[in-house]
Amino acid sequence: MRDLNLHISFKLYAYDELSEADRWLLDAACEATGRSYAPYSHFSVGAAARLADGTIVTGTNQENAAYPSGLCAERTTLFYANSQYPDQPVTTLAIAARNEEGFLDDPIPPCGACRQVMLETEKRFQQPMRLLLYGKKGVYEIERASDLLPLSFDAASMK
Ligand code: THU
Repeated sequence: MRDLNLHISFKLYAYDELSEADRWLLDAACEATGRSYAPYSHFSVGAAARLADGTIVTGTNQENAAYPSGLCAERTTLFYANSQYPDQPVTTLAIAARNEEGFLDDPIPPCGACRQVMLETEKRFQQPMRLLLYGKKGVYEIERASDLLPLSFDAASMK
């Protein structure tokens, strides 16, 4: 028997330490939360994707009375971006969330299903997709989506 370890590393930034472009993208994700449809959870999530050509696409969580039919902000955004701009890699995806009291102090970690979709987006364009996760107390930067899903299942797993 052997112990195997995978570890992830990510950075914590103060908002003011980020570049103007990153702050702009995070602001777009925060603003997008205002367009969330979350009548059940009252938890509004917004995402903003920057594409390689500079296009910005935003999206939000979309809930449904049949709960599992709803979709997270990350997947709404990536599916829209990939549908509208299938040849444009997503270079950075910013995510923000707020509950009824306001934006959260700490970033929310994306759910497992969204991580799987992020991984696919990264693989299909064969280039890293950076993640910026907004929190009032600080912003996490994850260099590539695959960092959030160690030991992942992808196309190569089927060969
Ligand atoms: N949600 C997201 O949009 N992204 C995440 O990463 C986690 C959860 C949404 C789904 C649902 O509409 C609400 O937040 C509560 O789970």
